[in-house]
Amino acid sequence: MIRKAVIPAAGYGTRFLPITKALPKELLPIIDRPTIEYIVDEAIKAGITDILLIVSSNKNAIIDYFDYNIELESILLAKQKEEEYHLVRNIAKGANLHFIRQKEQLGLGHAVLQAEAFIGNEPFAVLLGDDMYVTEGTPAIKQMMDAFDKTKQSILGTMEVAYEDTYKYGICTPKEEKKGPLVELKDVVEKPDIEVAPSRSAIGGRYILTPTIFEYLKNQQKGKGNEIQLTDAILRLMKKEKVYSYDIDAKRYDVGNKLDYVEAILDFGLQKDDLKEGLKALIKEKAKDL
Ligand code: G1P
Repeated sequence: MIRKAVIPAAGYGTRFLPITKALPKELLPIIDRPTIEYIVDEAIKAGITDILLIVSSNKNAIIDYFDYNIELESILLAKQKEEEYHLVRNIAKGANLHFIRQKEQLGLGHAVLQAEAFIGNEPFAVLLGDDMYVTEGTPAIKQMMDAFDKTKQSILGTMEVAYEDTYKYGICTPKEEKKGPLVELKDVVEKPDIEVAPSRSAIGGRYILTPTIFEYLKNQQKGKGNEIQLTDAILRLMKKEKVYSYDIDAKRYDVGNKLDYVEAILDFGLQKDDLKEGLKALIKEKAKDL
C-alpha cells in the first residue's frame, strides 16, 4: 500500500521570471488557489496520508500557505465570515504535510533523495508540481497506485507527446508492444534530442517508486543539464527491478508553460459557479475580435 508522497517544490521557476523572483512558482494561482494545492489534493484524494514537500530557502510562503493563520481566522470569525473561515481552515485537510529544505538545487534526482529518511523502506509516490491532472473519476496518481497493486514494482506515469516535444521529457521504451496502459520498460532517457527519441511515451510528472531507488540516487552522477536526474537513477534501477509505465487517463496541464497555465485558468474558471456565466460571455466577446 502506498501511504506517502513526495512533492519536489524547490526549483527556480525560471520560465515564469520575473514574478518567481518573489513568488514561488508553486504558488502561481489558478484564480484563487495555488497550483501546488491541486497537486496536494490529488494525493489526498488518492488516499495518501503523509506528504513531504521538498522546498528551498526562498519558498517559505509555501509552508505558510499550508499552515493555519490564526490571526486571519480569528478576524474572519469576528466578522462572521464563516464561509471564508472554512475556506482557509480546510486547506489540505486530510493528510499530514511535512517539509524539508533541499539546501542546493542539484536536480530532481537530488531533490527526491532528500526524502529518503521520510520514506524509509516502503514504496512511495512522486508528484511534480508543473504537471496538473484533471479527471472526472480516479485521480492520476491513484490510477498508478491501482496499477502498483498488481505489479508491486516502480511505475512511471506517461502520456503520448508529439515527436517535436520529446526533448522536454523523460522518454520511455517499452519492452514489448503495448496492449494496454501498463507496460514493462526496457529503457528510459532524459530529454533526448528529437532525432534520437526512442518513442513518444513521455514521463508526465508522476511516479510510483520502490525505496530501492535511493541506492541509485545516492551515487547518481550528473546527467542532462548538468543535474542529478531522477530518470538516470530509474534507468539503473531497471537493471535490478522491473519498471513499468502507465498511460494516465486524464487531462494534463503543464502549468510551467504559459499557454497551458492560461488554459488551466480558463478551464477552472468555467467550472466555477460564481464565474462560469460571466467568463463564457467574456470569451465569446473576445473571440469576435480575433
Ligand atoms: C522533469 C523530469 C522529466 C519529466 C518532466 C515531466 O523534467 O526530469 O523526465 O518528463 O519533469 O514534467 P522538468 O520538466 O522538471 O525539466
